[in-house]
Amino acid sequence: MAIFILILCCLSAVLGAIYIYLSWNFNFWKKRGVAGPEPKLILGTIPCIIKKNRNLAFELQDLYEKYKKTGERFIGVFMTRNPQILVIDPLLAREVMVTNFKCFRGNEQTLWVNRKLEEVSTMNPFMNSGSIWKELRSDVIGGLSPQRIKQAYPIALEICKKLTNYVKAHSQKSDGKIEVKSLCYKYTIEIISDFVWGVNADALNIDEPPNQMLKMARKLVDDSFMKIGLHYLWGLAPPIFRTLFAGRFYPIETDNFYTKVQKDAVEMRLRNKTDRSDFLNYLIQLQEKKFISHMNMVGHSATVLLDGFETAATVMAHTLYFLANNQTSQNKLREEIMANLDKNGCISYDVLVELPYLEQCINETLRLITLISVATRICSEETTLENRKGHKVKIEPGMVVHIPTYSFHNDPEVYPKPGDYTPERFDNGRAKELNQKGHFFPFGDGPRICAGMKLGQLEAKAGIVEILKNFYVKKADNYERFIDPASFLLGLCGDIFLEFESIQK
Ligand code: HEM
Repeated sequence: MAIFILILCCLSAVLGAIYIYLSWNFNFWKKRGVAGPEPKLILGTIPCIIKKNRNLAFELQDLYEKYKKTGERFIGVFMTRNPQILVIDPLLAREVMVTNFKCFRGNEQTLWVNRKLEEVSTMNPFMNSGSIWKELRSDVIGGLSPQRIKQAYPIALEICKKLTNYVKAHSQKSDGKIEVKSLCYKYTIEIISDFVWGVNADALNIDEPPNQMLKMARKLVDDSFMKIGLHYLWGLAPPIFRTLFAGRFYPIETDNFYTKVQKDAVEMRLRNKTDRSDFLNYLIQLQEKKFISHMNMVGHSATVLLDGFETAATVMAHTLYFLANNQTSQNKLREEIMANLDKNGCISYDVLVELPYLEQCINETLRLITLISVATRICSEETTLENRKGHKVKIEPGMVVHIPTYSFHNDPEVYPKPGDYTPERFDNGRAKELNQKGHFFPFGDGPRICAGMKLGQLEAKAGIVEILKNFYVKKADNYERFIDPASFLLGLCGDIFLEFESIQK
């Protein structure tokens, strides 16, 4: 009996200690006079992080709408047990990302990777802070400069021809219906493999199964994005546990694969002395100039692959989907494209980047389905944020700040009927004006703005132009599509079949 009572006492003590540990911080925001929802044990104030029943974008949108009405500029939330900030006022978002960036240099993704175990993922600027971030970003961005992207346009045009041949051949086999997400993945992996390594991914070859490039890119993206959920679960554990037990972010298999691809690509480029202004050429020059290691090169290449393969494909697939559902917008865009073709039936790079309605269609896609629906920053230097009625709150280094980009992009006071696809919202260069007010920033903002924006836009724009100048794109069914509740990159669930009817019979 005595032993039983002893066990019961120990058990109660352990459970009591766990309870105190999990709820210890729950009066953090009350003590500082910051409003916010009541946290629940384990779930905090954003339950979808644990329950996975809803996308984070929607959970933050509910909070945004509720607290916007009460005039808060920011509120206090709890990710599991951790107190963090959710920005409500778009101008405060700009302050954090742009004007007061020196105090918010880190981003939450820095916490995703295991620096002891991994070399390749730790080279991605997205997953770094401070001086290391600055150096990595400047190394990667040198290879993505506007001139280099312009010089890489012929690569995209070659792959566009393959895209048309693939759609023609494939649509004959399948009554014109093609699953558009996988089509766009095939297209972007061809561009990225060619631009980054000079390798033909052969993914748009109708007769052959795709080679390893597409399979490995999917593995890298799927395995890494799956780990993001685990990161939030680890938030429940004491930091020492996280450090000791956290696993890898990129799988070892893809690290090994890309290490070999990089080695072969460099050897072949040096052997053949090919003069090509692509990312590989840039990395070879960088190695000569800065003596960067082979693993540095692998890391930079994997950054462009991870950040530039799925993102651009998703934007392109969503835009084609919206245009299939909005024939008036599709016809208007096709007219713009046809009016700008040169005598070879192509659009020059300088014209492509300036096509106003194409830009508006992509902006509207990114507004409706903002790929990275939440931007985060970590406070790197003590500062204050002013809340409503001038209430100043001290923010200490380490505090995570969430910026609900998707909520800003879908606010009916700024975008009437926000669920409708209306590219005309961005008429007369309005995107810039909206950006200045903190209402529109699909590529992020400030010194941490997307490093591959020009490349991503080129991939999506060139692909959409190629499809619309050759095909009428139509809905293949009447299913209502929903945003995937569990995805990190916001995207529509399941397969999206569209019909492609050739314009030249
Ligand atoms: C059209 C597709 C794309 C979209 C919508 C997109 C969007 C974004 C967003 C929202 C961020 C976070 C910015 C912030 O926190 O302020 C980001 C970061 C980043 N993106 Fe993209 N991106 C796209 C394509 C690409 C491509 C093609 C690359 C190729 C290299 C790339 C590389 C990066 C990198 C390296 C970062 C981290 C920047 C930093 O932390 O300094 N992205 N992107």
